[in-house]
Amino acid sequence: MLRQITDQVKRIDVNPFPGADILSVSQFDRPRLEWLFARALEMQDMVKRDGGSDLLRHKLMVALFYEPSTRTSSSFIAAMERLGGSTVPITQGVQYSSVSKGESLPDTVRTLEQYSDVIVLRHPEIGSARIAADYCRKPIINAGDGAGEHPTQALLDLFTIQKELGRIDKLRIAMVGDLKYGRTVHSLTRLLLQYDVELAFVSPELVRLPLDLMNEVRKSGISVEETYHVADVISWADVLYVTRVQKERFSDLSQYEEIKNFYEITPEIMAQAQEQMIVMHPLPRVGEIAYSVDNDPRAAYFRQMENGMYIRMAILAAVLGKL
Ligand code: CP
Repeated sequence: MLRQITDQVKRIDVNPFPGADILSVSQFDRPRLEWLFARALEMQDMVKRDGGSDLLRHKLMVALFYEPSTRTSSSFIAAMERLGGSTVPITQGVQYSSVSKGESLPDTVRTLEQYSDVIVLRHPEIGSARIAADYCRKPIINAGDGAGEHPTQALLDLFTIQKELGRIDKLRIAMVGDLKYGRTVHSLTRLLLQYDVELAFVSPELVRLPLDLMNEVRKSGISVEETYHVADVISWADVLYVTRVQKERFSDLSQYEEIKNFYEITPEIMAQAQEQMIVMHPLPRVGEIAYSVDNDPRAAYFRQMENGMYIRMAILAAVLGKL
């Protein structure tokens, strides 16, 4: 049975994030989420109508990426530039920066804050964004800290569910794949605990959802199931959130090889799904969703990527105090 969540979600009218670091989804309650989603929709309308604005003119963002990225780095850069701001991308590998000479993260962010107004950081270690924020006077936005969190991805994921299905409450959401190392799953799950949803976690034994997070889910009172098989959830789910097995997090690559091809969403599997369900993926994919699924209208992962730019435009404008 779906649990009761109050319908009385207080509205926020004033920007709750000026000057804030964005480190974790724990900073986002429902009123803040609704406020952000409304601003992201305004950004979408503005881009479709005008292509961009000069809201962030003379503001500068550094994209500091210690790990590879296509979507997060480029959508943050696109977001800043659509709003008339400028960017310093350190995204081609920090080996070309003074990090390769041994410069610490605190010194690196204290350097970059001299030139910029906001720093977007991706780093392989859990907690790195928090450390950077402790040393930096300018807002730090966590673009993924190891197997920890990826808050802006979770925000765009939730925004996508809301846009695609018109609501979040009363939905049945199945997370599939690497639930141990998939930071997007961790962040999205924590956001979903604020809603009246049912969850299912589908993974090989080796990469089950971490116990502390599963305990959080159970404590919240949400209805939750765990299984190894997509077949157990495919006709039940409103949202199938598929993830890649995170090869880069395995110390024993033979374990990765054992499970890397565990799941593949194919047209045959999609034939068992509801007509209105959506398939999402934070991407990149490496075989979890067949390319032959891409033309299915329920394949939402390309629209999901586009939504990322609008969410990141709203976040940048918010932390820079321009909303
Ligand atoms: N979803 C996501 O974080 O993609 P990138 O690794 O390409 O940024």
